Amino acid sequence: MTLDPKGRTSPGFERHAFICGHTRAEGAARPSCEPKGSIDLMRALKMNIREAGIKNVRVQKSGCLDHCEYGPTCVVYPEGTWYGLTDDGTIQALLHHLKTGEVDDSMTLKMDE
Ligand code: FES
Repeated sequence: MTLDPKGRTSPGFERHAFICGHTRAEGAARPSCEPKGSIDLMRALKMNIREAGIKNVRVQKSGCLDHCEYGPTCVVYPEGTWYGLTDDGTIQALLHHLKTGEVDDSMTLKMDE
């Protein structure tokens, strides 16, 4: 029997956030998230979650999430909530979501904006 080093008895996370870390070449037909600072943002979010002592929440880099024009983009499961992390308000809303599970719908990604 394999023992989990973190003491977990079942797989998965309470909340799981994917932040796009994709890079496209300059002049590409679509923008990409890494040149907009998504990796630095992801590192800051991970540190914030760790320092807050939040357990069973995972923040990690993903490939392109195909909502490139709204990036840096993030999706949180199990809710399937999307964020365009373009200002401090959306970043704070994501952090609040990850820490509490509460979603502020006014701060989630709207594709018509
Ligand atoms: S490059 Fe980030 S969503 Fe496509």
